[in-house]
Amino acid sequence: MTSPLRPQLDLTRLPRHVAIIMDGNGRWAQRRGYNRIRGHQEGAESVRAVVRVARDLGLSYLTLYAFSEENWQRPQIEVQSLMHLLSRYLKKELAELRAQNIAFRAIGALSLLPQKVQREINAASAATAEGAVMTLTVALSYGSRSEIVRAAQELAEQVRQGVLAAQEITHELFAQQLYTKDMPDPDLLIRTSGEYRISNFLLWQLAYTELYFTETLWPDFREEEFLTALMDYQRRDRRFGLTQEQIEIKA
Ligand code: FPP
Repeated sequence: MTSPLRPQLDLTRLPRHVAIIMDGNGRWAQRRGYNRIRGHQEGAESVRAVVRVARDLGLSYLTLYAFSEENWQRPQIEVQSLMHLLSRYLKKELAELRAQNIAFRAIGALSLLPQKVQREINAASAATAEGAVMTLTVALSYGSRSEIVRAAQELAEQVRQGVLAAQEITHELFAQQLYTKDMPDPDLLIRTSGEYRISNFLLWQLAYTELYFTETLWPDFREEEFLTALMDYQRRDRRFGLTQEQIEIKA
């Protein structure tokens, strides 16, 4: 069933790229007396719901923060459960992603993931590579500062080898070294669960992104909440550092 909010959305002014920090699975579970894993399971249902809505509406890119570099320090049982959930998601959803013409990809320090998960990610990425309607990117073992340092090291090495002059390093060239090199920057970042932080997510890419924070915990974030966030985005006035007059002339 689609939400009664859908007709209120202006389909001509949707963000191209939405990034989401999916937070609050643990609290959702604790409030109900469940263990944290159950919260992640429900969170995976929200992933399914949000991917479907994003694709139906015609968003081009959806990027989800599923596992941060810091998350490796969580109890081993929780880390294993998250890896298991990811495997299960890839297995269960692969046919659906293909049918829906969605390209799946993962970003982050993927070599740190269990070999089995890496193989599944590679298989899912290859099997959906032709997906032209939407790109679903899942950030795993991801940390934005590490991504930026890695980019700096790569460019420094090119300068050392004499194939690049330091003055030739521009914003565009730098962005080309990031995991997100073939994606536009997010237009909208959503964070659930009432936390007002970026938590080392896409620090470079979020420079001009609109930020939306909601108290809703991720397992409760479904179509209705997603549409509410998109409607809020549509009320924003994006100026990219210019004056309103300049924006009007450009348009
Ligand atoms: C944050 O909640 C959520 C995570 C660390 C994991 C997100 C993973 C999923 C939604 C499920 C699997 C993902 C996919 C792509 C199928 P938290 O545990 O930090 O919550 P808390 O702050 O309330 O403790």
